[in-house]
Amino acid sequence: MSIVIKTPEEIEGMRLAGRLASEVLDFIAAHVKPGVTTGELDRLCHDYMVNVQGTIPAPLNYAPPGYRPFPKSICTSVNHQVCHGIPGERVLKNGDVLNIDITVIKDGFHGDTSRMFYVGEPSIAARRLCDVTFECMWLGIDQIRPGASLGDIGHAIQVHAEKHGYSVVREFCGHGIGRKFHEEPQVLHYGRPGTRDRLVEGMTFTVEPMINARRREIKELADGWTIVTKDHSLSAQWEHTVLVTATGYDILTRSTGAPPPPGILRLPGTQVPALASV
Ligand code: MF3
Ligand code: CO
Ligand code: CO
Repeated sequence: MSIVIKTPEEIEGMRLAGRLASEVLDFIAAHVKPGVTTGELDRLCHDYMVNVQGTIPAPLNYAPPGYRPFPKSICTSVNHQVCHGIPGERVLKNGDVLNIDITVIKDGFHGDTSRMFYVGEPSIAARRLCDVTFECMWLGIDQIRPGASLGDIGHAIQVHAEKHGYSVVREFCGHGIGRKFHEEPQVLHYGRPGTRDRLVEGMTFTVEPMINARRREIKELADGWTIVTKDHSLSAQWEHTVLVTATGYDILTRSTGAPPPPGILRLPGTQVPALASV
């Protein structure tokens, strides 16, 4: 198998699936508050996807080799849960932070995106981790153009995370996406510039860094899916599905509620410190 280059028609299909995935996150945002269970968030998203959008929740019964079928329609990963959290009876409480990861299938194409949500008021440490992880995702995405390499993406993410004393999870990565949920290439969130595959116009893949507040080691829970940090430190993740264009990239998982790129992407590198102008 090799990396699929999407045709213009396939890209239109990916755009629609991507927007719909992002709109599920827009929809669920108002329901994330103290007292709600992750199972209720799953039910609300499931009904929205199936009955309002006419999309298929890709996680439901998804069973890659070596895994039992995923039992729910979304992933909810709370606090020290890194990814693939299974929604259930857990009641969210003030100060929790969680990742909600949505993958829909529309007309055979997948759109995959996740965001961090605050339940009530987060701690300063949690807010900082979520903000830096968001910057990591965008700094990785901002490397994307034809001729750049996958290593450039991983490097940009790793440098930013480690600069803040955080660590990058190694066992899970971004992925090519299209008619299949997970296809080539693997998009590692660490690495060295100029290494691994070169990017080509028409590729579609996700960038979805998982960043831990302390050590990078993880473990899988007995449910066969939920991944947590070994040291129980907080973990955060953001995810977009992107297209490599002739001149750079296009975000496919866009919608009105998706947060805009962070200031760090808009600041010129040689900006004069604000105090200098006083
Ligand atoms: N959405 C996840 C990703 O970004 C994959 C979840 S697989 C599931 O790749 F089965 F847990 F849903
Ligand atoms: Co993904
Ligand atoms: Co995802």
